[in-house]
Amino acid sequence: MRDPVVEEDLAIIAKNNEPLFHKLDGKTLLVTGGAGFLGAYFVELAAYWNEKYAKTPCQIYCMDTHIVSDAGRLSYLKGRPYFHDLEQSILQPLPAGLKPDYILHCASIASPIFYRKYPIETMDANVLGTRNLLDYAKSNKIESMLFFSTSEVYGDPPADKIPTSEDYRGNVSCTGPRACYDESKRFGETMCINFHQVHQVPVKIARPFNVYGPGMRITDRRVLPDFFRDAFDGKDIVMLSDGKATRSFCYVADGIDGFMKILLCEFNAMPFNIGNDAEEVSMSQTAQEVCHLFGDKNKVVYQISEDKHYLTDNPQRRCPNLARAREKLNYKPRVMLKEGLARLKSWYERNR
Ligand SMILES: NC(=O)c1ccc[n+]([C@@H]2O[C@H](COP(=O)([O-])OP(=O)(O)OC[C@H]3O[C@@H](n4cnc5c(N)ncnc54)[C@H](O)[C@@H]3O)[C@@H](O)[C@H]2O)c1
Repeated sequence: MRDPVVEEDLAIIAKNNEPLFHKLDGKTLLVTGGAGFLGAYFVELAAYWNEKYAKTPCQIYCMDTHIVSDAGRLSYLKGRPYFHDLEQSILQPLPAGLKPDYILHCASIASPIFYRKYPIETMDANVLGTRNLLDYAKSNKIESMLFFSTSEVYGDPPADKIPTSEDYRGNVSCTGPRACYDESKRFGETMCINFHQVHQVPVKIARPFNVYGPGMRITDRRVLPDFFRDAFDGKDIVMLSDGKATRSFCYVADGIDGFMKILLCEFNAMPFNIGNDAEEVSMSQTAQEVCHLFGDKNKVVYQISEDKHYLTDNPQRRCPNLARAREKLNYKPRVMLKEGLARLKSWYERNR
């Protein structure tokens, strides 16, 4: 069953994009990494659209290896005629008969703990998987493909480059423990730009900034699920840093709204930051917000991780400049951190 908090989000996204999303009607949508946090949200959004708005349903193909996810969240869609679950890697050729018009290429591993555990698989999804899709799109007509890059392409920017705009070139290590992720996303972008220039592939690029919300598994090991896991267990929230680094968290419904606007726009080979520029908060403040949601019964404690690379190359500040997305896509993030965290807590109460 669809979760009620997710259902509310989907209703708002669909209503706000009503004329635009009709582009999907009667088309075929492939979501790679479709069982992951964002991928599953897109699958649920397209299914919602089919049920409530579409003149002709779009066929939804959800492709995932489940290396860091399971199919559980989408199991309620099994048996619907427009939903097709493919347990396979994006490194393999697309199955015969699958001819996607739209591709959301989410397959990768976004949680630092897990991409460091599976560095080769992470690079493969971002480099070989992206190449596989670009080769497909070179030889077969598609309407649009969106490559999920990351704000990590900026590395650790100096203070005068924050908020960070798309023309900042980055301060990134190519050999550090996070390089498997950051550098393969950077190369993925380079491939997209060149396949557009040489072969006119209609490929778009999104750089998400710390998207969070319902659907993010509590075992995902990104920082917000870790804070909530401690709080739900009735323990103090463990901060494995001094808490001073900042992030600008973007609620998932705002992120999904922005990514769909990119997929369906005409701006090929142009990276777009997607995030929330209204609040740049320290990790300590964020942990305190989670404590407040639990009635301040827990406190925040500071510890040193046993993993000596836990903080290596961790950016000190992260805040997007959203001028391009605002101007070209009319993108407007709406949900502030307090409300987004409350919605995530409500989702975890039913989905832990
Ligand atoms: N959530 C964010 O804040 C954020 C920030 C920056 C970038 N991104 C990018 O957006 C995309 C989606 O992010 P997410 O948070 O949903 O990540 P996620 O890790 O939750 O999901 C990724 C999914 O891809 C699947 N996958 C991995 N390798 C695969 C392969 N070879 N073939 C098929 N499936 C494969 C995984 O099993 C997982 O279900 C990723 O590319 C990620 O790097 C996300």
